[in-house]
Amino acid sequence: MSLPRRVHIMDVGPRDGLQNEKQVIDTAVKVELIARLGAAGLKRIEATSFVSPKWVPQMGDNVEVMARIERLPGVIYPVLTPNLKGFEAALAAGATHVGVFTAASESFNRKNINCSIDESLTRFEPVMAAAREHGIEVRGYVSCVLGCPYEGAIDPEAVADVSARLIDMGCADIGLGDTIGTGTPGKTQAMLAAVTRRVPIERLVGHYHDTYGQALANIYASLEMGMSRFDASVGGLGGCPYAKGATGNVATEDVVYMLNGLGIENGIDLDALVDTAAWISAQLGRPPASRVARAVLAKRTQGDGHVG
Ligand code: HMG
Ligand code: MG
Repeated sequence: MSLPRRVHIMDVGPRDGLQNEKQVIDTAVKVELIARLGAAGLKRIEATSFVSPKWVPQMGDNVEVMARIERLPGVIYPVLTPNLKGFEAALAAGATHVGVFTAASESFNRKNINCSIDESLTRFEPVMAAAREHGIEVRGYVSCVLGCPYEGAIDPEAVADVSARLIDMGCADIGLGDTIGTGTPGKTQAMLAAVTRRVPIERLVGHYHDTYGQALANIYASLEMGMSRFDASVGGLGGCPYAKGATGNVATEDVVYMLNGLGIENGIDLDALVDTAAWISAQLGRPPASRVARAVLAKRTQGDGHVG
């Protein structure tokens, strides 16, 4: 068994992290969060989503966020788009990478985007065509890959099927969402075994929420299967408004700490990331959820601060 030498992380904090926050967050805070993540070395930062503001009011300032972020060279700023309307708005706002999203669970898909899985794929067809025309790269997200809040267990073959259909439609890669964080390492590997029979591991991205504290273990299990791309959220922010009780994504700093310990290159400055976790958590009026951020911050106040 050999683990990947290098891992690429997208920070989804500004989108997945903030979309579930009840309090209105200033656009300036979102823009600064994105800038801080770029300065910490993140090369891929999910900036916002172009969904209905009636469904997710927090993302209603998407155009302004895209207009105000300073785009660093070599950094990409993907956004989520559920349909052509969202795609067109994202394109006009300067997005170069978008994500479409569906699920391996019919019930969850209905709650999240108000249509069946088949209908969602039909809605993506014009998005894929427009994306091809404009040279925009599309990632396909599949939610509920390790469990659904409405249906419980999900068949790995259902995950494989939706993933393969998204690839056939032209998605560059597939984000595998453990939306409610119920997965465990054995289940993660069984799911990946099914999906990799249809889609190569190089095109799969782990997007694991940490609701049950399993996300890091699931990432390790995925590394063992050869996966080298993951989504994570600074400070462990996040949750899905249509998955009751679901908490944040795995914290980016927890992932980076583990990768550093494994000697896996990731290009992220852990100290700057912890600073960012502390800063955004203060903006939201609570301590960072992540164990690594709390440990590093506690160590700093004891005078033996930086972790390098
Ligand atoms: P709908 O009500 O079925 O849509 O919602 P519709 O086409 O009938 O349109 C209804 C209204 O919405 C119309 O406006 C449209 O113009 C408007 P009205 O005439 O009533 O004034 N509309 C839009 N407005 C702005 N942007 C758009 C858009 N589309 C329609 N793109 C829809 C369908 C998909 C729009 C809605 O269900 C929606 O916005 N859902 C988004 C839900 C969401 O953002 N969920 C969280 C993100 S996914 C996630 O977190 C999971 C992930 O992290 C992976 C994981 O963890 O598993 C990715
Ligand atoms: Mg998510």
